[in-house]
Amino acid sequence: MVKRIAVENPVDPKILGDALTFPTSKKVAKNRFMKAPLSENLAKWDPTNPAITGAASDLHVNLYEKWAAGGFGIVVTGNIMVDQMHLESPGNTIITKELDLPHRREIWKSLASKAKQHGTLIVAQISHAGRQTALIVNQHPFSSSDVQLKRDAYGREYGIPITLTEEQIKTEIIEKFVYTSKVLYECGFDGVELHGAHGYLIAQFLSRTTNKRTDKYGGSPQNRARIVTEIYEAIRKEIPASTGFINVGFDFIELSGGTYEEMGFSHKKKSTIAREAFFLEFAEKIKLAIKSAVVYLTGGFRTVPGMVKAVECKGTDGIGLGRPITQDMDRKG
Ligand SMILES: Cc1cc2nc3c(=O)[nH]c(=O)nc-3n(C[C@H](O)[C@H](O)[C@H](O)COP(=O)(O)O)c2cc1C
Repeated sequence: MVKRIAVENPVDPKILGDALTFPTSKKVAKNRFMKAPLSENLAKWDPTNPAITGAASDLHVNLYEKWAAGGFGIVVTGNIMVDQMHLESPGNTIITKELDLPHRREIWKSLASKAKQHGTLIVAQISHAGRQTALIVNQHPFSSSDVQLKRDAYGREYGIPITLTEEQIKTEIIEKFVYTSKVLYECGFDGVELHGAHGYLIAQFLSRTTNKRTDKYGGSPQNRARIVTEIYEAIRKEIPASTGFINVGFDFIELSGGTYEEMGFSHKKKSTIAREAFFLEFAEKIKLAIKSAVVYLTGGFRTVPGMVKAVECKGTDGIGLGRPITQDMDRKG
């Protein structure tokens, strides 16, 4: 049963219906709502079997068709992994050169076209888990530095990571993000979102806690963010903005938070409870520094007044929704 949240003072929801135009690709999201990335964990995991491991299936197609039919301006997939040895979880979908088989592409094509029938933009979140790859998948995952994740997050253990060399950053990271993006573009997706949050590989480069490098990828904020711009530029070289393909960081930025060491999917302070969204205080500051990209804020939105207020106070352009939109859509009653 859907649990409804009572609202004392209803507000006019009209502003939430405004279309958002992405500055680089010029694509238009028909309203402010984003289906936030939610790891589906619906794929099979069998590293010895390239036909099935990490392949999307009819379950994914059905799920995304239903979400798209829900009327979102933009639907973002759960994290699709760019390397089968660096998964957020066994059960993730994976797109790599080694696993790029025609029948696997057909499913992605079907998913994109069925989602688009409903007038939504369909964007794939692509990711590399780095040191947050569980031990059962990889005993020594790559990371920005060799800082091991000690916390027993999700009941899993994590190995001592291997520090990527500059050459490996190119071959093991950037080229893999580019390959996955190209497949998704060729399968009809409107764009990709680089997963730079929640402590995964890109966040491992961005954070001083996990990035101890002294080369051009470590130290200053610019150096720690270098990997993001290099991935972006490498993708744009293959899929230029003129194709209309959306690339996150530049067309839009989704703000979320937390890592395996400190989860961010709940309220930490009384002030955020009053304002509904978990990260609105940060978002208001971050948004001031973002000149052109569309900003989406995800986390905590539960009521129309909460969403309208966040847009009106200029904390965000778009509203990302995660857990509230995971009801079983076909269930009666
Ligand atoms: C089961 C589950 C899976 C998630 N998977 C992802 C993911 O693949 N990528 C991502 O960026 N965030 C992921 N998130 C975070 C959500 O996108 C969102 O930020 C978080 O749930 C807070 O928003 P909400 O309060 O609307 O649920 C996940 C959250 C949950 C609960």
